[in-house]
Amino acid sequence: MPEPRHEGRALLVTGAGSGIGRATVLRLLAEGARVLALDIVPERLRSLEEEAGERARLVTVAGDVASQDDVERGHAAALSSFGGYDGLANVAGVMDWFLPAHEVDDETWTRVMDVNVLGTMRASRLALRHFLQRGAGSIVNVASEAATRGAAGGFAYTAAKHAVLGQTRSIAWAYRGDGIRCNAVCPGAVDTDLGSSAQPRSDFGLERVRPILRLRGPSVHPDRIAGTISWLLSDEADNVTGALLLADGGWAAG
Ligand SMILES: NC(=O)c1ccc[n+]([C@@H]2O[C@H](COP(=O)([O-])OP(=O)(O)OC[C@H]3O[C@@H](n4cnc5c(N)ncnc54)[C@H](O)[C@@H]3O)[C@@H](O)[C@H]2O)c1
Repeated sequence: MPEPRHEGRALLVTGAGSGIGRATVLRLLAEGARVLALDIVPERLRSLEEEAGERARLVTVAGDVASQDDVERGHAAALSSFGGYDGLANVAGVMDWFLPAHEVDDETWTRVMDVNVLGTMRASRLALRHFLQRGAGSIVNVASEAATRGAAGGFAYTAAKHAVLGQTRSIAWAYRGDGIRCNAVCPGAVDTDLGSSAQPRSDFGLERVRPILRLRGPSVHPDRIAGTISWLLSDEADNVTGALLLADGGWAAG
């Protein structure tokens, strides 16, 4: 049983219904936190509630991080349920079928940017206003190996995750005197439901990324990433901000 390092704290997690977000919620609950879990798929939230078996400390909100109204509902629910929150994990994300720049369609580009970049901005903006009033707060953005190199995703996903890294550093710098931290976690291969958007749809795109993808090693359970997110959210990491923390089993070291 992990130590209760989040006892008495409240945390907001997006993309909470599956994979890394879901593992993060379960981990944070086990570590004593109250959690506001937001996801676009209501059934995933219902199954999370069942698995957690935790009525008092888990509140779920169905919503799209790309929608200002939905993110505001999640934020408001955390305020009304918990009286505020201490940290935000921006986990919601979608991939781009490894489409290269000359094949990307507007719909893929827009959705990948809307979820990964705009969604992270929307949730962070509200959290920051709240954290400034509290004089404390921690944001963890789930980026990717694709935030560090050009050969781990398609064009839109790579651009989006690089933008997430820029968001992370800008926030870390701007608010470093306000008790507010912001860090990025870059997982390697994780066994999740990233689903069809992670299935290569372009022979050209796949051929260009395959040499690097081949080096990534076996997929790990999302728990292996949840622990890193939990640590960065916690006060144990209170002098860590602006970091890009590779949680990739050594992939980027090669
Ligand atoms: N799985 C991997 O190998 C891997 C590697 C690097 C980075 N990541 C990143 O990890 C994060 C989590 O992905 P995962 O692998 O756990 O995938 P996942 O598909 O299992 O989980 C993502 C969750 O986000 C939700 N979601 C998607 N769009 C949303 C939206 N617009 N608003 C709210 N919720 C939304 C989904 O319903 C799902 O429950 C993503 O940001 C992804 O880019 C994953």
